[in-house]
Amino acid sequence: MRIAYVVGTRPNFVKTAPVIARMRERLPDAEHSLIHTGQHYDRSMSEIFFEELGGLPEPDHVLEVGSGTHSQQTARVMERLEPILDAERPDLLFVPGDVNSTLAAALVAAKLLVPLAHIESGLRSFDRTMPEEVNRVLTDHVSDHLFLHSDEAVDNLRAEGVPDERMHFVGNTMIDTLVALEDSFRSLDAAAARGLEPGSYLLVTLHRPALVDGPLLEQAMRRLEQVAEQMPVVFPAHPRTAKSLTGGVPDWVVEPVGYLEFLSLEAAAGAVLTDSGGIQEETTVLGVPCFTLRNNTERPITIELGTNTLLGLEPNRIAEIPSLLAAAPERADPPPMWDGHAADRVAETVAGFLG
Ligand code: UD1
Ligand code: UDP
Repeated sequence: MRIAYVVGTRPNFVKTAPVIARMRERLPDAEHSLIHTGQHYDRSMSEIFFEELGGLPEPDHVLEVGSGTHSQQTARVMERLEPILDAERPDLLFVPGDVNSTLAAALVAAKLLVPLAHIESGLRSFDRTMPEEVNRVLTDHVSDHLFLHSDEAVDNLRAEGVPDERMHFVGNTMIDTLVALEDSFRSLDAAAARGLEPGSYLLVTLHRPALVDGPLLEQAMRRLEQVAEQMPVVFPAHPRTAKSLTGGVPDWVVEPVGYLEFLSLEAAAGAVLTDSGGIQEETTVLGVPCFTLRNNTERPITIELGTNTLLGLEPNRIAEIPSLLAAAPERADPPPMWDGHAADRVAETVAGFLG
């Protein structure tokens, strides 16, 4: 039996590491093949995750697709993945999340009639201007097995006519990684290493094209400079964002950091400002107030539970964070099955249907 896994970007590694680890334990006689598309390739966006996450083996294939337009990137993954899947003919291919590598791999599997499993299925922002939304919808509709981690995902998929038999509510595999590495990141004390007092500072990540590819980034930076006068700011800037930052860059803008350092900074932050999907979820589990600089979220559960506040795509609202923080609600329990065991349930389910 052969199981293949396609990953390409930073959040993919975090979501897939526990799945591969549990699948290898549950099906030790199967061949497990990891394919890295190379969508992310900087050391800080890729290699460091292989070193830190545990469970993520060296890839068996690296496609080196790199950066490009959406069509170029998607097409390159398809062209380079097709011969591999055609030769290996896996009994199941896993794809995580909503990035271009996810959709490209899903299409190749669908065309080759390779059974497909989608991790983090059913999320919807209902915003087709967001490049990930089309990736989510199309990947779900060509997947044979949809692994879900929130109630809204079930509702969204039912509304699109996806039959219940294809859905498996297993929980959040990204949170499995957080739980597995909690001792390591909590003992790291990354805040102190950067001269920051736990609970005092604003951790920032911004990388969505709607924000960072145009003039809104400059507005956001001006507002962050104001906030920095009231509370320390640390902003590990995604390479897409770093490319767009012009002029003098404040010293609190740093390179992207590895997973352990990031989680250490996140857990000890006074608040987080982000437009990341995964970070809205991690802050929910960590009980850290999160402010999301977007008009919508495909993760409404994080808002319902109170840790996440949608600011809108309005950089001027960043100035309100110190005062909004004073009124931040108490930490709620995480959603069901965001418990560190989602990948066990994935492996159990797969062992069931693959016999
Ligand atoms: C991608 C995903 C996004 C996800 C994000 C996670 C799509 C459409 N977008 O966005 O959903 O939230 O990853 O981080 O798939 N770059 C580097 N080094 C790298 C990677 C990228 O310099 O290792 C730069 C390049 O200039 C590149 C730009 O970042 O053009 C954007 O990279 P890309 O992979 O196209 O999209 P992301 O913005 O990373
Ligand atoms: N992350 C990291 N270092 C950073 C920023 C983020 O390790 O400098 C981790 C973060 O903890 C989460 C994942 O990367 O696990 C989220 O990735 P990203 O925000 O790039 O993508 P999204 O979730 O928006 O698709």
